[in-house]
Amino acid sequence: MPNLSFANQSSLVSINGVITPPEEATVSVFDRGFLYGDSVYEVTLTYDDTPFLLDAHLDRLWHSATSIGMDINWSREKIKEYIDTGLKEVRALTDSKRYYIRVIITRGAGEIGLDPTLSNGQNLFIIFKPLPEINPAYYKDGVDLVVTDVIRNPKMAMDPNVKSGNYLNNVMAIRAAKEKGAYDAVMLNEKGFVTESTSANIWIVLGDKIITPPIEAGLLGGITRKSLIRIGLENELKIKEQNFSPETLSSADEVFITSSTREVLPVTKINGELIANGAPGPITKKLHALYKEFVKESCKS
Ligand code: PDD
Repeated sequence: MPNLSFANQSSLVSINGVITPPEEATVSVFDRGFLYGDSVYEVTLTYDDTPFLLDAHLDRLWHSATSIGMDINWSREKIKEYIDTGLKEVRALTDSKRYYIRVIITRGAGEIGLDPTLSNGQNLFIIFKPLPEINPAYYKDGVDLVVTDVIRNPKMAMDPNVKSGNYLNNVMAIRAAKEKGAYDAVMLNEKGFVTESTSANIWIVLGDKIITPPIEAGLLGGITRKSLIRIGLENELKIKEQNFSPETLSSADEVFITSSTREVLPVTKINGELIANGAPGPITKKLHALYKEFVKESCKS
């Protein structure tokens, strides 16, 4: 039996709709998700007991599945019902305020071989676990990133805008960053432009301009990224999608990254060099405050 002490007693997994304790949540070694990363997934979190922007995450799940030729066997309503059931059960185990929800659909198990028609049916896994608080020092002081040599998959290979279970490219990048003692890596595309970090979108501030690379650069269209572009424009901030080089990144006035679980996280060092004076900048703080306001408003409606 593997050591599952990390999946403490407060986690649960729904497997094809059956709620299972973590130590019993196992997958066949013949599952194509395990063999080839032949799967798609989504991650969201709860605010006020409700999965945040679930429809947007399910839209992206369907987009990812369609992109790899997978016709999802469950309806959206069924997946939402499984999420509701799982959340109710996991809340009975702990009084955590926020939960992490990961929905994974694999192409299922079958005779070993790359041909997807060998699969004998899909598997749906939903992992529920309390979401630990992110280290407050990360927001106060910012985190450090290093630009890695591991480039993001080109769009014509495995499009990074597909959230598939095949993240080895990004695993190699964060491994290189961790070896240098950094929080995470910045990944470039084959043309040398900045794309994103290994599990978050990246942004720079140049004067009063707020810039994030376009999806065409080869990156995941983050739900947080999309929300922040809209919020910024509504607040008459100068937000732009535009390619930039690692040199522009290092000399920016401010840098930050965005993802569902981390919201807006300041970056204060790139390749060991400080960004501006090395403290989170005012525009980053303002955008985080606006994003928090948006979360609050969304929870009310
Ligand atoms: N990661 N880019 C990549 C490569 C990601 O994996 C993610 C999300 C994002 C941010 O997307 P969003 O704003 O929709 O969370 C950008 C999740 C959190 C994960 O894999 O755990």
